[in-house]
Amino acid sequence: MTKFIHDFKVLQNREVSKGYHVLVLQCLQQLPAIFPGQFAQLLVENSPSTYLRRPISIYDVDPVENTISLLVKVVGSGTAHISALQEGNTLNLVYPLGNSFSLPEGKKVLLVGGGVGIAPMLLLSKFIHSHGKEVSVLIGGRTSADIIEPDQYAKYATVGITTEDGSLGHKGLVTTHSYFDSVGKYSMIYACGPDPMMKAVAGIATRAGIPCEVSLENLMACGIGACLCCIAETTSGNKTTCVDGPVFNVKDLSGWDRSK
Ligand SMILES: Cc1cc2nc3c(=O)[nH]c(=O)nc-3n(C[C@H](O)[C@H](O)[C@H](O)COP(=O)(O)OP(=O)(O)OC[C@H]3O[C@@H](n4cnc5c(N)ncnc54)[C@H](O)[C@@H]3O)c2cc1C
Ligand code: FES
Repeated sequence: MTKFIHDFKVLQNREVSKGYHVLVLQCLQQLPAIFPGQFAQLLVENSPSTYLRRPISIYDVDPVENTISLLVKVVGSGTAHISALQEGNTLNLVYPLGNSFSLPEGKKVLLVGGGVGIAPMLLLSKFIHSHGKEVSVLIGGRTSADIIEPDQYAKYATVGITTEDGSLGHKGLVTTHSYFDSVGKYSMIYACGPDPMMKAVAGIATRAGIPCEVSLENLMACGIGACLCCIAETTSGNKTTCVDGPVFNVKDLSGWDRSK
């Protein structure tokens, strides 16, 4: 798929929770087709310590307005600079990068996002819902401040929430939510978030015989398959997370203990 380097105009920057920003960006050219799970490499200008572009998932796409949205959590200098962008500023993106989630065959699917790992699940829920499937989205976080825009997912899905401190939704880890009590009804499970969370979800899916795709967030540099710093070990050898991923079927990932 062709990649583009485009300038985008910042139309909105909303701080949706402390340290989490949604940026709505209008492309100055016609947007290409973008699929759920793909990401962009963002140029961070005026940050002396940030030389490399930063990978951020595509949160939403509006082809009518010719905009994309990004959900950014501030964790360091690069994301702090991106989150400080103001309306009217310009942001340069290399996109759409990586592969994408696959469309499920069955009717009911479960999407699980932990923390900012929920970002690719909005476009995915919209996409799957538009194909007539029943979507359940499970959003997990440490506290209520990590549960970002659940109402957006509710447009396309039934939404469940877990927080580790019990400040919103069910208290506990995502895998303790009741959605997992009757997991056999799902034909596909998708997950993105911290590795331990994805591995736990992958384990439940595998034991139940349900296909499961995860989106890995390995550290990246080039984003285009050249530097090999984002390698994931798979059953067919090393693969780049930026080009061959970020989405992998868990049956293809080595070193994921799915038996426990
Ligand atoms: C495919 C992909 C999609 C992503 N999508 C999003 C998204 O939609 N929204 C979002 O906010 N973030 C996303 N990330 C993570 C984001 O790229 C990093 O948080 C960002 O690059 C950190 O840059 P920084 O300069 O702010 O922090 P740095 O100064 O580079 O790092 C700050 C701290 O964050 C850690 N860190 C950096 N990158 C990662 C990572 N990939 N995973 C875990 N820890 C990391 C560093 O080890 C360090 O401890 C994604 C990453 C990948 C690979
Ligand atoms: S980030 Fe360079 S090969 Fe993936």
